Amino acid sequence: MEQLLEQIATYKKEIGAVTVSDAKGVEDFRIKYLGTKGIVKALMGEMKQVAAENKKEAGQLLNEFKQFVENKYEALKESASNGQEPATSALDLTLPGDSLPIGSRHPVILMRNRIVSIFQRLGFAVADGPEIEDDWHNFGALNLPEHHPARDMQDTFYVQQNPDWVLRTHTSNVQIREMEKGKLPVRVVIPGRVYRNETVSARSHCFFHQVEGLYIDEKVSFADLKQTLYFFVKEMYGKDVKVRFRPSYFPFTEPSAEMDVSCFICGGSGCNICKKTGWVEILGCGMVHPNVLTNCNIDPAKYTGFAFGMGIERPAMLKYGINDIRLFSENDLRFLKQFTSAT
Ligand code: DAH
Repeated sequence: MEQLLEQIATYKKEIGAVTVSDAKGVEDFRIKYLGTKGIVKALMGEMKQVAAENKKEAGQLLNEFKQFVENKYEALKESASNGQEPATSALDLTLPGDSLPIGSRHPVILMRNRIVSIFQRLGFAVADGPEIEDDWHNFGALNLPEHHPARDMQDTFYVQQNPDWVLRTHTSNVQIREMEKGKLPVRVVIPGRVYRNETVSARSHCFFHQVEGLYIDEKVSFADLKQTLYFFVKEMYGKDVKVRFRPSYFPFTEPSAEMDVSCFICGGSGCNICKKTGWVEILGCGMVHPNVLTNCNIDPAKYTGFAFGMGIERPAMLKYGINDIRLFSENDLRFLKQFTSAT
């Protein structure tokens, strides 16, 4: 009996330390301890030598030991199938990998890229500038002095820390910054986010995106402006679209115009998009005002130039059939996932 107890204790210690790395290890364990010629069977055989009065107790001990071995066997089986096997046998390297969600381009960015790439083909470079701007670059240098009534059309947000700072109302501030560099000619397009203090609705938001353009050189004329924009319209909306210029007013250009294209939804016959007029307004433009050139230390007697500016959201809404401008900034994946191509 003593001897049996000792043996059981030794085996328990030995078994407690067993670990396996694969199914073969588990099977080896089973054969060694639970097999027909295994240790549990052998110990059971030793019952014969146990004195009659101890048989009951010895039987209990052996049953308990057998249970202990069986529990260990189950635990080993589990750990081997839980991937603790060497990676080689669990990995099928011929399977395709898990795909990562990579997202897609935002519709405003798709439209911006389309617009910008057309002007890049004409030799325009892309310029960038700050969204928090001082009064001079957003208004003053653009011939919009303080108290000028045209400032009313572009109310914005002001920075408490510094009353001279505003969130820019157009990307025209970058026109000024490019001209200030003093390197002529200037031929840039300026995409970017702009802000207006407007009531948010399906048609207007307190921030949106623009692409502006600026070309300053000797002898740049209104004819250059028209040819550049004709090319843009053809590339953007197709050969058959008609174009018209309407006289308009911007403080930073003189003369100024607004450019319409024949409605690309109804082809000009009149629909809800063009408000039954057959025309859709797409941009403002004009010849850069001599005061603006002077403000940037450019001699208006020697240099002239044209500028234009357009929103990005409106054409994107028309192209993709989006009926609410707020959808662009709500981060709703169901909306965003629909724009996967660059067209
Ligand atoms: N800044 C104007 C706006 O946001 C658009 C614009 C019109 C820009 C004429 C120009 C321009 O550069 O020449 O309404």
